[in-house]
Amino acid sequence: MKQGKFSRKIRADDTSYYMSCPEVVARHIASRLADFRTCVELCCGVGMLSIQLARVMNKVFAVDISAKNIEDAKHNAGLYGVAGRIEFITGDVLDEKLLGGLGADVAVLDPDWSGLSENKEDHVSGLEETEPSLRKLFNLTRKHVTENIVARIPKTFSFKTLEEFGPCRMENVFWGDKLRFKIAYFFPEINENSETNISFD
Ligand SMILES: C[S@@+](CC[C@H](N)C(=O)[O-])C[C@H]1O[C@@H](n2cnc3c(N)ncnc32)[C@H](O)[C@@H]1O
Repeated sequence: MKQGKFSRKIRADDTSYYMSCPEVVARHIASRLADFRTCVELCCGVGMLSIQLARVMNKVFAVDISAKNIEDAKHNAGLYGVAGRIEFITGDVLDEKLLGGLGADVAVLDPDWSGLSENKEDHVSGLEETEPSLRKLFNLTRKHVTENIVARIPKTFSFKTLEEFGPCRMENVFWGDKLRFKIAYFFPEINENSETNISFD
């Protein structure tokens, strides 16, 4: 059965709505991480991934640089009944002091990979081209927060792009019959690259 992007009427401006993780995919990521008790989402936008993470965890820290997005994210968390389990923070995810204060079992990174192209389906192709830089964000997260890191990444990224971070489990996410983006899971116990396709209607 085909479904809309979200089951509730969320609050978001057009760009943030477009960039947000579809609910069915956010649920999938949350189910993969359900053994962890605490999480930090770095670049939480209007909260659509953090909300699903909060359904399976005790506590989620959710950080975004846009005060408007954080305001909308708080509203959206209320719609889904999980506001009490998410601490929303307006701030720069490259701020080492901020990161140092966020203790969590797992970190989810979701930088903007739309780039400057007019075509919304074009994705950037390098670690330094995401906003903020995935290279900086990943390394700071590993240094200050945790080694358990999950990143939602553009469809243009390959194992080669991510090589410097070590091996990962990659999921190629098809939604509405198109490859939309990928999810890369980095956990210390993963010692070789592997890849699967996952499809959602
Ligand atoms: C792909 S969107 C996040 C979508 C969100 N995870 C969701 O599913 O609803 C990327 C977000 O990165 C945020 N962002 C960009 N640079 C940032 C920075 N330096 N610090 C914190 N947030 C940043 C943007 O404001 C935007 O909301």
